Amino acid sequence: MKLEGKVALVTGSGQGIGQAIAIRLAQDGADVIVDDRKVGESAQETADAIRKLGRRVHFFQGDLANNDDNRRMIAEGVQALGKIDILVNNAGVEKRADFWDITEADYDFVLNINLKGTFFATQDFVRHLLDTKRPGRIINISSVHEELPFPHFATYCASKGALKMLCRDLAVELGPYGITVNNIAPGAIQTPINTKLLNDPALLKALVTQIPLGRLGAPNDVSGLAAFLASDEAAYMTGSTFFVDGGLLWNYHEQ
Ligand code: BGC
Repeated sequence: MKLEGKVALVTGSGQGIGQAIAIRLAQDGADVIVDDRKVGESAQETADAIRKLGRRVHFFQGDLANNDDNRRMIAEGVQALGKIDILVNNAGVEKRADFWDITEADYDFVLNINLKGTFFATQDFVRHLLDTKRPGRIINISSVHEELPFPHFATYCASKGALKMLCRDLAVELGPYGITVNNIAPGAIQTPINTKLLNDPALLKALVTQIPLGRLGAPNDVSGLAAFLASDEAAYMTGSTFFVDGGLLWNYHEQ
């Protein structure tokens, strides 16, 4: 198995893309730290699926917007499973608002989780790798919106655009330590972040017509790439963004 002997931490793995990635990494042999804001049924499902695969699991409940929680997430994960080799920064939120109506609270909600949380969780992880003199993998779940405008979601776009540059910058700074950094940029995937869209047939139809492959993605359309980027086969890949979007990003055409 490709990830036998490795320990992965997947933030926001109680549901959606994070859940699929956590389970996929376990299928490939990794022990997994499952992180979520709440201990709901769905987070329990992630942990149970990993245990059923015969892998070790540690559940961490915390708020990525809080740096004390991030520090505890890494420290407790290391204590429970011995080390961490792979960090998947998956947790993310979005909030629709016209630009002129965005409040400071909206801004903080989105940027604190998508950017600040990713930034400092990664810092704590890198400190752990340097302290233990080991290489590691950082995989950020970004979005097509690190590249593509998304009107009425300026906070989300600002956070994902920042992840694009953070990936490139850290690839250069951390490469000499054997630490790789890559982004996965999903398009429209059927997950709880899209609940509103999924319940609005007109909106959904308009979006699907923009997707060359003619459908929304499923979490498992994304998880295989995360497993690949975490594996030895991706040892020479760093600083890149990989799109998993059914062709959405490049679909501009004149009618
Ligand atoms: C967003 C979704 C959106 C999709 C495609 C994702 O990053 O979270 O709300 O539907 O991009 O635009």
